[in-house]
Amino acid sequence: MRNFLVYSFGILAFCQSTLAQSSVDQNFEGKIDSLLSIMTLEEKVGQMNQYNGFWNVTGPVPEEGDASNKFEHLKNGWVGSMLNVTGVEEVRKVQKIVVEESRLGIPLIIGYDVIHGYRTQSPIPLAESASWDMETIKASAAMAADEASASGINWTFAPMIDISRDARWGRVMEGAGEDPYLGSQIARARIIGFQGEDLSASNTIAATAKHFAGYGFSEAGRDYNTVDVGTSTLYNTIFPPFMAAIEADVKTFMNSFNVLNGIPATANSYLQRDILKGEWDYQGFVVSDWGSMAEMIAHGYSKDGKAAAESAANAGSDMDMESYLYVKHLKNLVDEGKVSVNKIDDAVRRILRVKYELGLFEDPYKYCNEEREKTVIGSDKNKAIALDMAEKSIVLLKNDNQLLPLKKKGMNIAVIGPLAADKNSPLGGWRLAAEDDSAISVMEGLKKYKGNRLSHEKGVALVKGKEAFVFEININTTDRTGIAEAVEVAKGKDVVVMVLGEHGFQSGEGRSRASLDLPGLQQELLEAVYAVNKNVVLVLMNGRPLAINWANKNIPAIVEAWQLGTTSGDAIAKVIYGDYNPSGKLPMTFPRNVGQVPLYYNYLSTGRPTDPGNDLVFWTHYTDEVNTPLYEFGYGLSYTDFKYSDLKLNSKSISKTGELKVTFNLTNTGKYEGKEVAQLYIQDLFASRARPVKELKDFQMISLKPGETKKISFTIDSKTLEFYSANNKWEAEEGDFKVYIGGSSNTVLESNFILQD
Ligand code: NOJ
Repeated sequence: MRNFLVYSFGILAFCQSTLAQSSVDQNFEGKIDSLLSIMTLEEKVGQMNQYNGFWNVTGPVPEEGDASNKFEHLKNGWVGSMLNVTGVEEVRKVQKIVVEESRLGIPLIIGYDVIHGYRTQSPIPLAESASWDMETIKASAAMAADEASASGINWTFAPMIDISRDARWGRVMEGAGEDPYLGSQIARARIIGFQGEDLSASNTIAATAKHFAGYGFSEAGRDYNTVDVGTSTLYNTIFPPFMAAIEADVKTFMNSFNVLNGIPATANSYLQRDILKGEWDYQGFVVSDWGSMAEMIAHGYSKDGKAAAESAANAGSDMDMESYLYVKHLKNLVDEGKVSVNKIDDAVRRILRVKYELGLFEDPYKYCNEEREKTVIGSDKNKAIALDMAEKSIVLLKNDNQLLPLKKKGMNIAVIGPLAADKNSPLGGWRLAAEDDSAISVMEGLKKYKGNRLSHEKGVALVKGKEAFVFEININTTDRTGIAEAVEVAKGKDVVVMVLGEHGFQSGEGRSRASLDLPGLQQELLEAVYAVNKNVVLVLMNGRPLAINWANKNIPAIVEAWQLGTTSGDAIAKVIYGDYNPSGKLPMTFPRNVGQVPLYYNYLSTGRPTDPGNDLVFWTHYTDEVNTPLYEFGYGLSYTDFKYSDLKLNSKSISKTGELKVTFNLTNTGKYEGKEVAQLYIQDLFASRARPVKELKDFQMISLKPGETKKISFTIDSKTLEFYSANNKWEAEEGDFKVYIGGSSNTVLESNFILQD
């Protein structure tokens, strides 16, 4: 029987693959109908079940997670997907079981967290976002897909497109920062990068828009915590990147761990059925997050596993990742009439659709090509893509007296800090498939420039113990023994490059921080070194914005180098020596003090926004800190300078069907050729729901030679001005608007116009 079914579906696939491309979708629907008509209920539920593999773990292991069970279930056709199975050999093994031993031979879809690269690591997503360079971000995602698919994987749980305003939340490293417009552009670029133009090609993989929804708003930045947001924030801030993801044809969604306004996202019918599959007409499938179904018991929402499975299935969670609840209860729930067969069929249809689109039915082993695995993974070509991305991700935060770039010859340089020679932390937090210690360190990058003399001292260790992949890292707060040596080395040097920041595993899932200071004894080290040598270039490596007030006040040059992946040290060295002129801009606000968080540029004005100057306290402020950030959203310097001038609007008003042209001049007034990200913001002055003081609406990257001026133009139409209004619809409301232009959210040019009917 099994062989007959596999054979007949093979023939069907062959005949239909010759049909015209335009009919492909319908063609799949017909095939899915035929398949559904012969599937038993157990087999349907099986498609909705995803198991972790046997080697890597990316969440708490449930009791049921024992391997023998899984093999049995694979043979029975009770598993539709596996995650964390990697490498052609292992993927082929599990695929062979379902294809050859299960009754219908429906291939598995193989998922993995390909977040910022596979073996070759790109910069962490927050860093990539600082490039504001969509083509390069796309290329980086395509490179990751190329490597992952060569390793048997056909589905990534990326991009994470959760907007977040809270630097304490460890997962800000995995997102695009705080802005819904920038976040939407980046979501699109990453999805197109992963999925390519042809999802059925063997070097592209299905993407996941995650986590739906609100995960980035966990209270106090503590991972997995409660989320409580109103309609305006949900629609105007959280939803836009998800809507952009659908426009980019993302194949899957993942829901989230959090409760949203009291209801866990996994059981949230409003999110998944009403909005996603209803209002937005989404045709892909939704996978739960790891164990999020079972976790609804701990949330105080479901009384037991069976109740959790019932509410998740009814709410539109199509696939259960690692809760073991669908496989256990869903058949009974259908038999008891608590979940309808229609809902099951709908979920299975969505899952099968993606499998068809990937081409898995035509060739379940299409990602199992040993030759590709050998040549593609870790190739020089991929490293070059990662390097390009890394250079563009660096943000120059400060450069007094043009200390940077450094001269390439004749200098004595001290290179100090726990991260200076570190080859592990630069790989970032989501690098399961990378080899430990495989990044190029800053020291290694600098050494490639032979004209200067380098001396290196660690100063302090950042963590106690081995710096390999560990879930909890133990920050060193006591061992100061290296500080004196570092100070000695720094004395009398022409310049000191200090490489400080966070360990690669201090950000990411489950790695929230209550402090945004330099961890451990690094601040002490920085101050001690600065006391003997003021010519310090501080290179920061971190997975989130840090509060570096002291450094900003005292240290002349600061380079934000995030965690830049495999080629990190080369990119940093190129910037330090001026072979790459930094062009990155912050995708997330840097606060002065953790107490200001959440701090973001697109806030709503209060009713008491400014100091009335009457010595009274009754206005919105802190008594012990200013309101403004240390470095605002969109900020980043270059080795050259840019001047914005001559802002002109071609009209003072537009109609709802009209367009407004905004033009201005951008001049490179400095000595170097450089790239600038010119940013357009608007403000809707009065609206049915109060609107932010500024909203990014467009940007352009412009390259200019010294002395060169270019006329830049942006177009505004009523789509640009839309928001989710108090009428609960997307609309642009008539009235007064401001338009702002600048090289950061702290803009320099301003004008105004009216939108009228
Ligand atoms: C939990 C994370 O929240 C999610 O983003 C990830 O894809 C899964 N674990 C699988 O590792």
